[in-house]
Amino acid sequence: MILVTGAAGKTGQSIIRALTSRKTSVRALVHKESQVQLMKALGVHKVTIGDMRSQEVLKKIFLGIKGVYHICPNVNPDELSIGQSVINAAKAAGVERFVYHSVLHPQIESMPHHWQKLRVEEMIFESGIPFTILQPAAYMQNILVHWNLIIKEGIYPIPYGRDTRMSMVDLEDVAKIAALALTETGHEGAIYELCGPEVFSQTEIVNIIGQNLGSPVRVKGIPITEWEFNSRKRGMGDYQIKTLRNMFQYYEQYGFWGNSRVLESLLGHPASRFTDFVERTMRERM
Ligand SMILES: NC(=O)c1ccc[n+]([C@@H]2O[C@H](COP(=O)([O-])OP(=O)(O)OC[C@H]3O[C@@H](n4cnc5c(N)ncnc54)[C@H](OP(=O)(O)O)[C@@H]3O)[C@@H](O)[C@H]2O)c1
Repeated sequence: MILVTGAAGKTGQSIIRALTSRKTSVRALVHKESQVQLMKALGVHKVTIGDMRSQEVLKKIFLGIKGVYHICPNVNPDELSIGQSVINAAKAAGVERFVYHSVLHPQIESMPHHWQKLRVEEMIFESGIPFTILQPAAYMQNILVHWNLIIKEGIYPIPYGRDTRMSMVDLEDVAKIAALALTETGHEGAIYELCGPEVFSQTEIVNIIGQNLGSPVRVKGIPITEWEFNSRKRGMGDYQIKTLRNMFQYYEQYGFWGNSRVLESLLGHPASRFTDFVERTMRERM
């Protein structure tokens, strides 16, 4: 049985779908009672509700587990200590396969959630547990937060420049590779950068969406102060604000992109293009 932590987030759900569609038995760690039903609907065998920061919870969920896919909640200030505790619990339980959901370019120190992932990778090396590390680029699915605004008003709001270049990856492709790393042999010791096949500016992104919709979509630049004001109003904490501000600044200055050859060679076929993702989204949501 494979344990998936952070199971109810968008990453966890995709990875679980990829595993259960391959008839792999999954144990899921979720945060809240309300997430149990979703896990059952995805075909999860066993669901545990608990806090990943709790050593007791970790000890309990690793019982009988041979493989784990560790997903830390997004922009979590405790990413390092959570990583250490999950590794310790996995080691104590005799886990034979540790697959870690990292990020493209974890070595960027100015983005704390990247830098913490690099340190977790280091702890994994030192644990002695056979591991595979996935380093995905930004997901195409991130735009779905704004899907209604895109459809209704033709606006894509972002707090970084329209020329910012990214090689967004389809989370469904990432999930396929996660399932391979968890269920096939031959991935031990590998670190896979997973990027989409195109490097697009934000203007190119909205043009592709507009072409598919048959109506124009434009980038709306959100001043960072306005983004921060609205985020604080929604209850976002200081660590998340600082980290995401740094991330937007980094994106704008350097872009966030890589190469898709690793992903395509693992998939054995071309990776999803952004237009494929938009077409699929329109089929599913319109
Ligand atoms: N988005 C991207 O483009 C991208 C690209 C590469 C890598 N990543 C990485 O992917 C990872 C997952 O991102 P995501 O957006 O899928 O995750 P997420 O939704 O932020 O978190 C996953 C789940 O963890 C739960 N959770 C939060 N705190 C918890 C705790 N203390 N104990 C147990 N569960 C807890 C959340 O439940 P609640 O919501 O109920 O709190 C949520 O269901 C992140 O580490 C991110 O850096 C993301």
